[in-house]
Order: sequence, then C-alpha cells, then structure tokens
Amino acid sequence: MGYLVLARKWRPQTFDDMTGQEHVVRTVANAIKMDRVAHAYLFCGPRGVGKTTAARLLAKALNCIHGPTATPCGVCQACTEIAASTSVDVAEIDGASNNGVENVREIRENAKYLPQRDRHKIYIIDEVHMLSGAAFNALLKTLEEPPGHVKFIFATTEPHKLPDTILSRCQRHDFRRIPAERMLTRLKQIAAEEKAGLSDAALALIVRQAEGGMRDALSLLDQVMSACGPAASDAAVAEALGAIDRTVVQQMAAALVRRDAKALLESVEDVFMRGSDLRRLAEELALELRHVLVTRATGKPPGELAEVEQKMVVELAREADPAQLARLFDVVHGSVWDVGRAAQPRLALEMALLKAIQLAPTASIPELLTRVEKLLGTGAAPDARAAARPGGTPGGRPAPQPFRP
Ligand SMILES: Nc1ncnc2c1ncn2[C@@H]1O[C@H](COP(=O)(O)OP(=O)(O)OP(=O)(O)O)[C@@H](O)[C@H]1O
Ligand SMILES: [Mg+2]
Ligand SMILES: [Zn+2]
Repeated sequence: MGYLVLARKWRPQTFDDMTGQEHVVRTVANAIKMDRVAHAYLFCGPRGVGKTTAARLLAKALNCIHGPTATPCGVCQACTEIAASTSVDVAEIDGASNNGVENVREIRENAKYLPQRDRHKIYIIDEVHMLSGAAFNALLKTLEEPPGHVKFIFATTEPHKLPDTILSRCQRHDFRRIPAERMLTRLKQIAAEEKAGLSDAALALIVRQAEGGMRDALSLLDQVMSACGPAASDAAVAEALGAIDRTVVQQMAAALVRRDAKALLESVEDVFMRGSDLRRLAEELALELRHVLVTRATGKPPGELAEVEQKMVVELAREADPAQLARLFDVVHGSVWDVGRAAQPRLALEMALLKAIQLAPTASIPELLTRVEKLLGTGAAPDARAAARPGGTPGGRPAPQPFRP
C-alpha cells in the first residue's frame, strides 16, 4: 500500500477512539442502543473535527453484520467497505459538486429500492449547505418521511446556510473544536506510534497552530516529519511550521519580568533575522504573559501547555508580581495591532518592549507600602515614618490616599 497521510491513517474506527465530541458520540451511541435512531442527522462544526468520521461510524454502527450496535466490529464486509468508502449501500456524496436538483432526484429515485446487502441504505452528504435551493426543495419530502430502510447523514461547516425547512427535519449535532489538552494527548500517542521523535513542546506547538482541528494537527505533524526527519529539535520544528520558537518566546517573557532590555533586543533581532512575522511574536508573547498571569491567579498552569512549558510558566509566575504582569500584558497586547501596521514593525516592537519594562511596576502599591514601612521600622526618622503611614504627614495634614484599582 502506498503512503497514507497521517490524517487518513489515524481516522478513528470506533466511537471510543474519537477525541473530544463526547457529547455527540454519547447521544448517537445511546440512540443506537435504545433503537431510537433518527432518520436524518445533521453534523455541524469547524473543519477537521470529526464530522465525516462520525458519519461513517454511524453508518458502520447501523450496517455492521452484528448490529445495529454502538460497537461495530470493524471486520465484517459492511464495516470494512464503509471504512474504505466502497460500500454499495452507503453513498458518500459531495454536496459541493452534486448540488443540483437532478442529483437529488436521483437520490430520491434510488432511495425507494431496498438496500442491496445491508440493513440500511445510507446517504452521507458532505458540505450539504452547497445544495441549490431547488435541490433542497426536492429533498424535503423524502427527508420528512423516508422509507424505513433509508438514513440521511448530512455534514456541514456552515449550518447557517441551510434553510429552516431542512434544519427542522434533521437531528442536529454540533461538533466542537477539540480541546488543546485532549489533542495533545492524542498527538503524543500518534507521534509515538509513528516514531516521530518529537518533544512534547514541539507537539504542543503543533496543537496551538491547529486551533482545535485534528486534521490540521495531523497534516502539520506530517509536514514536520517530512521537513525535519526524525528527532528534530524544537527550533527546527518551529521553523518548519513557520512558527516562532517557543523557547525564544519564553526567554522573552522572562526578560520582560527581569527587565533585561539587552536580552529582549537580541531576541527581537534573532526572530527578525529568521524572517518570522513580528506581529506573531508580539501575539505569542502576550499569550505567554497571559499564561503566567493565569498561573499566578489560579495557582495552576494552563493544561494545554506541555509539561516543560508548564514548569517554566510556574517559575516565572512565582518570580513576578501580579501588578507587573498585568501591566506587561497590557503594553505587549496593545502593541500587537501597532506592530502589524507599522512601516517598521521591528522598531515598533522594540519600543513597545522597552516601554513595557519602564512602565511595569515591580510590585503592587500595597506591597510597596509594606516594604517602605519595613524599611522605616528599622531606624528611619519618626517624621518620615508618620509620612509613610496612610493618613498622616509630618505637618499633620492627611496624606493623599494611595490609588487602588
Ligand atoms: N474527533 C476526532 N478524534 C480523532 N481524530 C479526528 C477527530 N476529528 C478529526 N480527526 C482526524 O482528522 C481527520 C479528518 O476528520 P473528518 O474527515 O472527520 O473531519 P470533518 O469534520 O469531516 O472535516 P471537514 O469539515 O473538513 O470535512 C480524520 O481522518 C482523523 O484523522
Ligand atoms: Mg468531512
Ligand atoms: Zn461489522
């Protein structure tokens, strides 16, 4: 067999194997167990999150020789043919290229006849929102009362383009983006089986780029493995993805907290020379500061980060002050738009970072006050001590109240 891209090779073959989407899988599996399968399903959601996969699984569940069952065997003729999309009783139709009324008429005619071998005749229509208005109309009657042996499964990324008449005749299930943590677990497992030799941090970078789409994640993994070969360094992976090396981003976040202007400018130069997008760098940096702030606020690093990254974030959170972090975040996040528009993005980013260092307080005001009090307590003049306490100055006048956000 020729080379199969990872996304196809690792298409889940059982409901249990689906990552995320438990809310859909549970309902569908229950319906099968209780023999309450609807005659038309609509699977909606972003691309590459399992709609077609789930449609095929449902077809297998209905037509498996041991079925209907929520755990199709995967080896009978019906199961293997559905997995390979060659089953005579399961038609996979691309709605984008078969969108005319004549295509629907054909389905309608065909649906009248009993299945050739299996229990059900199943029509899976992908990108169903592409059907023409006339095609939808032609479908209505059959969709309302299809023959007992017929099931429809529609999939679409754009359910808002479907007429209400169609929506109201289907049982709708919304697929979600796959949570980063879950995706990372799945990716680790696949990378191990494929002997990809990538670090957790590199896989986490892929997860971030994929933005919740499993197909995108697997395509990126493919891309990285062919570009870098086995056992690639994190920096090489970042380069292959056109992403910014996470280590650099983390070093920069640390440099911001430590007010290390030299290290910051060097990093900006480094990223600039590699030809990476500086706006992206600003975004990543803002995100990193967000992670540190969240860790500081909740006492727990975000789960979507790889373990090494979590460690670094925790360390930085321990080191930094919340007020300082919030301010750093503000300035860096605010610079993203400017850097994107600037005639000289590098200049804009450098200035923003230097400003961030200058503006961010080392500590919050109450903390500073305590420190001053402590200093005063150990040998400062009594007048000054009175001045430092809120509510009193040497002359007896009330001191201005410190600003509390
Ligand atoms: N929930 C998931 N769990 C595990 N793998 C998944 C999941 N969703 C997608 N995949 C992987 O991505 C590939 C593509 O998934 P699928 O074809 O089901 O996406 P889709 O939602 O139909 O996308 P599109 O809208 O682009 O048609 C699968 O072969 C599988 O490898
Ligand atoms: Mg699909
Ligand atoms: Zn089977």
